[in-house]
Amino acid sequence: MRRAIYPGSFDPVTNGHLDIIERGCKLFDEIIIAILVNPDKKPLFTIDERREMLVEVTAEIKSGDCRLVVDDFQGLLVQYAIEREADAIVRGIRAISDYEFELQMALMNRRLEPRIETVFMMPAEAYSYVSSRLVKEVHSLGATIEGLVPPSVEARMREKFGKI
Ligand code: PNS
Repeated sequence: MRRAIYPGSFDPVTNGHLDIIERGCKLFDEIIIAILVNPDKKPLFTIDERREMLVEVTAEIKSGDCRLVVDDFQGLLVQYAIEREADAIVRGIRAISDYEFELQMALMNRRLEPRIETVFMMPAEAYSYVSSRLVKEVHSLGATIEGLVPPSVEARMREKFGKI
């Protein structure tokens, strides 16, 4: 039984995240999608909203026999990974620009907890420029985000920004 943690802010979940989860499902028996509770950030969506969206959209993806669990965590990621008896942390890398910071985090996490491996995965090219931050920015400025996030997330974004 191979279990991975897929951590992130997921504010909100994008089609790029879902692409990584689908790919991760080919490697792991269980993926725990873990939302970071970060008191230093001012997110658009609450933890409950992000959790609801993730549960909704992951129910619709091709996960095969892989079990998908949505959870949230505080504090050190590797500590959470050990508590959940995970083998690996999955992170998506879109471009070389992501790599530098991701490498730093992966090596720090390895130093803190050598039992946990980090697995980098590449999303489909179509999502290589998609980030939660840009999705929020272009939507708030009136542009369409169709195809970048699942339709249910798009609807929630419209509600948030008062564009129903
Ligand atoms: O979606 P994000 O914001 O890129 O995810 C970043 C995340 C949650 C993976 C990272 O901030 C994290 O792991 N935070 C938990 C605190 C921690 O363990 N810090 C040490 C990392 S080396």
